[in-house]
Amino acid sequence: SNQDTHPMDKTFALIKPDAYPRREAIIEDIKKCGFTILKQSEPKPTKEQFEEFYAEHKERHFFNDLVAFMQSGPIVAMVLQKENAVPDWRKTIGPTNSLKAKEEAPESLRAKYGTDGQANACHGSANDDDAKREIEFCRVRYLDPLHLRHPPDIHH
Ligand code: PPS
Repeated sequence: SNQDTHPMDKTFALIKPDAYPRREAIIEDIKKCGFTILKQSEPKPTKEQFEEFYAEHKERHFFNDLVAFMQSGPIVAMVLQKENAVPDWRKTIGPTNSLKAKEEAPESLRAKYGTDGQANACHGSANDDDAKREIEFCRVRYLDPLHLRHPPDIHH
């Protein structure tokens, strides 16, 4: 298939609000793991934007908690580049629940920086299609630093 000859080399990452105070250590770890940070910003998505970002989980019992948690403080958004970026980033962050990560993957970022099933430090795209969607969604909707820092001047 096309993916065999042109593997996706980018993924989308978030540092969640619980880990924001330790973002500098996490970013050091990300670089040590061989990822290049192509883009980095601190977007402030609305509730509606997070609901769209996490739309695939809207029937899950934790959906409202997840959206509220993601809005509880600042986040860091990043586009990461590396060969096999999507699966390698998922392996780097570890199991979803940080308690499980601490048992099964103590070197993972969720083990090192997360707490439990909600406060789990990092997000990573689940597959290539999600990575493309999340990178594009954030570029268009709220990640583009030009949009944030230089809103159109309506007076000129
Ligand atoms: S995954 O990545 O889809 O396989 O993981 P999953 O277990 O399906 O979880 C999907 C996202 O929901 C978050 N999550 C929770 N948030 C709040 N409370 C509870 N109990 C909870 N359980 C799971 C989980 O961190 C995943 O978020 P992201 O941002 O994708 O990592």
